[in-house]
Amino acid sequence: MALLLAPGAIKSGNFAGFVTNFAFYAVFSAIISTALAKIMFAVAGMMLASTALARIAQVMNAPTLTVTKTPQAPKDNSVEFKDVSFTYEGADIPALDHVSFRVAPGQTAALVGPSGGGKTTAASLIPRFWDVSSGSVEVGGVDVRETDPHVLMDQVAFVFQNDRLFKASILENVRAARPDATREEVQAALSAAQCDDILTKLPDGMDTVIGTEGTYLSGGEQQRVALARAILKDAPIVVLDEATAFADPENEALIQKAFAVLTKDRTVIMIAHRLSTVIGADRIIVLDGGRVEEEGTHAELVQAGGLYSRMWEDYNKAVQWRITAGEEVR
Ligand SMILES: Nc1ncnc2c1ncn2[C@@H]1O[C@H](COP(=O)(O)OP(=O)(O)OP(=O)(O)O)[C@@H](O)[C@H]1O
Ligand SMILES: [Mg+2]
Repeated sequence: MALLLAPGAIKSGNFAGFVTNFAFYAVFSAIISTALAKIMFAVAGMMLASTALARIAQVMNAPTLTVTKTPQAPKDNSVEFKDVSFTYEGADIPALDHVSFRVAPGQTAALVGPSGGGKTTAASLIPRFWDVSSGSVEVGGVDVRETDPHVLMDQVAFVFQNDRLFKASILENVRAARPDATREEVQAALSAAQCDDILTKLPDGMDTVIGTEGTYLSGGEQQRVALARAILKDAPIVVLDEATAFADPENEALIQKAFAVLTKDRTVIMIAHRLSTVIGADRIIVLDGGRVEEEGTHAELVQAGGLYSRMWEDYNKAVQWRITAGEEVR
């Protein structure tokens, strides 16, 4: 402004005018720019607020879980799908289409099949993340909709593919499963879930808050903490959705160990992407396009020569390929 006014002042010889004009602009340009900056911040704040409000409204408008007035207690630790169909809101085709199977108490059932087959959907109907469109899901011989939600939650522990940890300490994250658990019990669950290496590398061990100051966990590490949570919960029925994203064999081996602790003497419904983990299952249910394509033990299904036997062949080829590739490198 001074540069602009100076030539004018020199030309006209009006130095008094120059000084008043300069003072005027010096004061007002500062006021105007702060005012503009304030308006800009206010607009940004309003945008943030309206997004937040929309999200709050979305949560508030979500239909509440219907709770039965006459809850029945589950009789045992079995899980049964009776002619279950389920369509996601807004979807055209059902994610599950007349699915029926039963897992007896103490048995391990594996859900396998191509991506998008409906495995995660089936698993999430057990703790009532959604309710079936038709048919019924029964835990202990009682429709999950006829069970007290708290009783159902005590009965079922679950680890899902996309489990997120809270922005809280590892201790609190694990203790969410059972708020009255002692520090020692949480420590034991973490050890059983093979999390000792995670704890030693974090600055405050179990008290480190995840998600702050560069303390982030990898997908595999996060799933191990989620497993510790499920182990601490000590529920008789376990639903496990193995994540696909762990490429490194070390993490995978640790997760397998943690799985073994969690699934001992329990009714297990496990979704496995690596067929090597399902060989020992009491029954294998093959889901494709939302339907039960086949069902049986590993030996029976390989014998039957259907979808599972083809998946098994592909799996073996992949393993073989990895071994040969490894040898060539050496
Ligand atoms: N929240 C959702 N809303 C709408 N459709 C969904 C939702 N989640 C899954 N689907 C659809 O339902 C079908 C079954 O998905 P699901 O996640 O159960 O498959 P999956 O067998 O677990 O697959 P993957 O092996 O990749 O985990 C898919 O067609 C998928 O696109
Ligand atoms: Mg899935």
